[in-house]
Amino acid sequence: MCGIVGYIGDKNCVPIIIEGLKRLEYRGYDSAGIGIINGKECKVIKTKGKVSELEKLVYKEKLESNLGIGHTRWATHGEPSTVNAHPHLNKDKTLFLIHNGIIENYLSLKKGLLKEGYEFLSETDTEVLAHLIDHYLKLKHSLFQAVRYALNEVEGTYGIAVIYKGEPDKIIAARKGSPLVLGIGDNENFVASDVNALIAHTKKVVYLEDGEIAEVYKDKFETKTVADETIIKEIHQVDMKIDELSKGGFAHYMLKEIMDQPESIYNSMRGRLVYDEGVPKLGGLQGFEERIINSRRIILAACGTSWHAALVGEYMIEQFAGKAVEVEYASEMRYRNPIIDKDDTVIFISQSGETADTLAAMKEAKKKGALCIGICNVVGSTIARESDAGVYIHAGPEIGVASTKAFTSQIVVLALITLLLARKRNLSLPEGQDIIKHMKKLTEKVDSILKQNDYIKSIAEKYVNSKNFLYLGRGYNFPVALEGALKLKEISYIHAEGYPAAEMKHGPIALIDDNMPVVFIATKDSVYDKVISNIQEVRARKGRILAIVNEGDDQIETMVDHVIKVPKTHNMLTPILTVVPLQLLAYHIAVMKGLNVDQPRNLAKSVTVE
Ligand code: AGP
Ligand code: GLU
Repeated sequence: MCGIVGYIGDKNCVPIIIEGLKRLEYRGYDSAGIGIINGKECKVIKTKGKVSELEKLVYKEKLESNLGIGHTRWATHGEPSTVNAHPHLNKDKTLFLIHNGIIENYLSLKKGLLKEGYEFLSETDTEVLAHLIDHYLKLKHSLFQAVRYALNEVEGTYGIAVIYKGEPDKIIAARKGSPLVLGIGDNENFVASDVNALIAHTKKVVYLEDGEIAEVYKDKFETKTVADETIIKEIHQVDMKIDELSKGGFAHYMLKEIMDQPESIYNSMRGRLVYDEGVPKLGGLQGFEERIINSRRIILAACGTSWHAALVGEYMIEQFAGKAVEVEYASEMRYRNPIIDKDDTVIFISQSGETADTLAAMKEAKKKGALCIGICNVVGSTIARESDAGVYIHAGPEIGVASTKAFTSQIVVLALITLLLARKRNLSLPEGQDIIKHMKKLTEKVDSILKQNDYIKSIAEKYVNSKNFLYLGRGYNFPVALEGALKLKEISYIHAEGYPAAEMKHGPIALIDDNMPVVFIATKDSVYDKVISNIQEVRARKGRILAIVNEGDDQIETMVDHVIKVPKTHNMLTPILTVVPLQLLAYHIAVMKGLNVDQPRNLAKSVTVE
């Protein structure tokens, strides 16, 4: 959720931290702050609002230091405000702490500290940890041990960075449930929530695991567990390029990412299609295929857009691999005491790999002995590292809060997994090769849809003042109806509902009048004629209709107000094509409304708190 950046080295940390926080803005936040410790002074500057506000304050003070930490906060305890912004300090103002996550037992810890005479300035849970570390410093522990003892009392999740005037040669970093990486430079080292903040300085990173603490000096780092056991961590080489993080000349990250889809879809398949055998090659599932195919059930668990992808996966796997599939909201699954055991396979889908509900559901499934598979985009993310096996979607960094290219790449990977399972069951070689042939053509087909961007924008103009929308689809297009509705509501704030088209007659049809635009996803499939009947029902009630249809379909065009045509493809790959016009429709409507498309109000890119 929030962003953490720390620096220790020979340069002035202030511009490095500010720049790093800017690269983490996409994660969503409401306030920001920075703390520096140099030979002369310990200084904290923080503010409600954007990093650009913080930057102005910082440069007015002409801050300079070789050691510092910075933070962007997404409030969980205590409203967004300057006093609640991080870093939080101890009473002597010699210790600075920044934190991502939730300290669930902060009230009981706070009670004990109040009894000891500690005073609190903020309403946050984080400030409790700052004073708790101070409590152990006062007992003459080193900073490392003071942090370690304090963390052993904490219940909940944290990614933290701590600096202290008494030991100005290090940053202490620790994680449990919230991501944290170290950046290894040349006589300088970094701490950050994710590699986006580091990539301009180093491609050498160390991923901290839950329960690990690092002592980061400018020329080395040491890692231990919260139980004080020394651990040796591997240094990974990140292959992300800095220009992947820029908007690439587009007005918004979201548009860049929609336009990235021919390439991101290709990257999700690259090196994974074995045409001669009609099978995929998924190294991350090697050795687990039999266990998956022989599992009693396959459960797909996720949140938001990833949950919509899971619905598509359910249709795919059941239709082609003949395996029973259930789809679960991860947030429901984690508290429902699900009936899962070692004979089940649970596939967790998460772009960020850090969604708290999905991670918690995975922990629950692991406890029950299920095989846990992760389908993630962020390499090295927690879900990716804690699952038993998995498949990266390789969609590249997705910065816009509204997920677009991750969705289509998730469907590509689910199609690959379906093909893997299906070819071990009844799918023939020619059928497998037919799927692969269609997959190879997706890139050019998505490209042809993106070329209609201006036309789709002209349609968006006709609907920009609508107050409500209905999105309707059947079969593989039902999850697309849900996804199209989510895209519109989360960036344009227009209320929109997705429904199975047949469900309309069970209630929603009462909403239809000439103020209710209805978007039908009506490609040629086994239920096409049924969708036509639904279109006529809406027509008869003066509903305005936009239909997503196949190229060559001249029938529906005569019944509706607007059509957007997409190429035909294999039935199970249809969502990859039909979602693209809906992504662009939502994008253009939101832009026309002058809204913050990349960082919609109240939303965050990665929901790492409950
Ligand atoms: C999608 O546009 C939203 N940003 C949101 O629903 C998102 O899909 C959800 O929070 C899950 O995120 P994840 O894929 O990173 O787990
Ligand atoms: N729970 C802390 C707070 O509300 C940290 C929130 C975050 O992850 O940004 O300040």
